[in-house]
Amino acid sequence: MMIINSIDKLRDVLDAQRANHKTIGLVPTMGFLHQGHLSLMQCAKRDTDFVVVSIFVNPTQFGPNEDFEAYPRDLKRDAERCDSVGVDVIFAPEVSEMYPEQASTFVSCEGAITRTLCGASRPGHFKGVTTVVAKLFNIVQPDKAFFGQKDAQQVVIIEKMVRELNMRLQIVPCPIVREADGLAMSSRNTYLSETARKEALVLSQSLAEANRLIQSGERDPEAIINVMRKTIETAPSAQIDYIQIVDGRNLEDLKTLKGEVLIALAVKIDQTRLIDNLRLTLPA
Ligand code: PAJ
Repeated sequence: MMIINSIDKLRDVLDAQRANHKTIGLVPTMGFLHQGHLSLMQCAKRDTDFVVVSIFVNPTQFGPNEDFEAYPRDLKRDAERCDSVGVDVIFAPEVSEMYPEQASTFVSCEGAITRTLCGASRPGHFKGVTTVVAKLFNIVQPDKAFFGQKDAQQVVIIEKMVRELNMRLQIVPCPIVREADGLAMSSRNTYLSETARKEALVLSQSLAEANRLIQSGERDPEAIINVMRKTIETAPSAQIDYIQIVDGRNLEDLKTLKGEVLIALAVKIDQTRLIDNLRLTLPA
């Protein structure tokens, strides 16, 4: 496995692979890798010949009061994990390699899909994401890129960007990987104290509660959201950012549950903002 910091060097390596008719898979990450990230790499190994994992804590997707500086980093451990699943190249550029000059060119999805859910409380976040992901796509030119459903809104926005800008690759969404007790894996889980880690279970529990209600026939979003809110409020340090039930294709609020349904929530436990979601396909 190679660890490459330079865009030019990476391009040389990838050109050689393409000359040998190898398909290229890209897994974009911000590092501090866990089993959720590794599952994307395993998916990429199955689907493509040559797997590139990018590890880049992208400053432009963090707000001024967010955790860019504090975001956990451990390239040595990340490299061991990538190696263990057969990744071919880690691309780990410095900020100065990705943004050598004050940027004036951005890729920004201006649709309502970037203003709802996480977009409402993280203005500018998705502009940072689409810009860096578009840059990574231009640098790597992958045949397929792999993203986790953990960030459901991110997947919908990136799929829209790829469609609308005629980018020549396939986006492969992969399922959420959870801890044994249900907590969705996240690099930010490392911020949680022992008490907060226990309280964080209310996110996945509220989704399980919602699922039970839906399986027993409930179709009213408000009724489901109310039950979810009550579950979350049992955690003393939980502050709800949002609980929303939307159409999984365009992220518009649903009046009644039918078709592609996405139940998504963001909750702060102490100072740590966590997200989780559940996707369901119901009769139209
Ligand atoms: P990061 O949070 O490091 O996540 C990298 C990828 O791993 C994303 O596609 C994310 O959805 C996926 N992922 C994270 N936790 C997961 C879990 N528990 N189960 C399955 N997949 C999981 O998302 C980003 O980085 C950045 O926004 C990025 C796309 C790299 C752009 O900077």
